[in-house]
Amino acid sequence: MRNPLQYVAKALSFLREYATDMWLFIKHNNHSPLEDRNRKAYFQTIILSHTIEKGLSLAMPRPLFGRNNVDAIVAQLRSYSKAYSEFPVGMATGALAAYRDFSADHAAADDPTLSVIERYLDSEAAPGVERTGGVKQVDAAGTVFPQSIVDFLKSRTSCRMFVPDALPREQVDEVLTIAQSAPSQCNRQSVRVHFYQERARIASLLRLQAGAAGFSENVGNLFVVTSEITAWGGPQQRNQMYVDGGLYAMMLMLACHSQGIASCPLNLAVTNAVERKIKTVGDISANQRLIMMIAVGKTSAPRIKAARSPRCRVAEVARFH
Ligand SMILES: Cc1cc2nc3c(=O)[nH]c(=O)nc-3n(C[C@H](O)[C@H](O)[C@H](O)COP(=O)(O)O)c2cc1C
Repeated sequence: MRNPLQYVAKALSFLREYATDMWLFIKHNNHSPLEDRNRKAYFQTIILSHTIEKGLSLAMPRPLFGRNNVDAIVAQLRSYSKAYSEFPVGMATGALAAYRDFSADHAAADDPTLSVIERYLDSEAAPGVERTGGVKQVDAAGTVFPQSIVDFLKSRTSCRMFVPDALPREQVDEVLTIAQSAPSQCNRQSVRVHFYQERARIASLLRLQAGAAGFSENVGNLFVVTSEITAWGGPQQRNQMYVDGGLYAMMLMLACHSQGIASCPLNLAVTNAVERKIKTVGDISANQRLIMMIAVGKTSAPRIKAARSPRCRVAEVARFH
């Protein structure tokens, strides 16, 4: 492309595509006043309920953690129409019931937050809705090997109960070798994987990530999955690194699961400023985009607690055209 006008046209098409992305996101994101109220409440309730499940799945939950979220869930449930979808109601009431049961042993019975839950569950909660949220007990990866491929796929669970022991290098090499079978666009393999075992550096990285509170001190092995921007070209490919990166990350977690290594995906939904800090701490070059972190390692017990993270019925997510 030698003609300067072609450069200008290309630059303008970048601007057009990014501006369209920005408008779509502003218009439809969960904070937008232009989006449907029930649709927003549907997702907010799921997200808030999961913070309760996650807190309960820690090795030692802090008594009465996340009170604000509990209050917010109850307020959401009071205004949400279950005719829209029962899924968030089941997840939220399950998470609230599990929180109440845990708190029964760890807090004063007349605590105001517990009274709010009690009142809601006893008198206001929709009858007949299955309480699907909460915590479950699962076998740690590798202690019981699933009988079939389907069981194997369904049995991967995010772990938040690690021991901080460093994994042997051969095991890390093995999971990375398996993960290399992930597909990628045009086989371009833009994904880069950074691996850390130095505790101080992991602590700094996780402080910037901010989603591993309550278990970060027991993370002794951390992947950061990135994608090299230089592998991509043109405005139409602007989001493709996240597609290849996500597929690779999934493959890496399944590879870990197959080798008896537990994992927890960790979001990198961060600002550009935080992304730059993570790259500096992690010694990651500027021409890479961060996709996500994955904490990995052995579990602190053969059976561990995990967030239930119930799944929607297929009919709620799939549309047959
Ligand atoms: C991209 C991504 C980011 C995530 N970020 C976090 C995180 O920051 N902290 C955390 O504890 N779990 C995190 N999770 C784990 C989810 O909570 C978990 O995958 C979900 O509840 C489903 O449960 P499961 O993985 O046990 O099947 C993340 C998952 C994904 C896919």
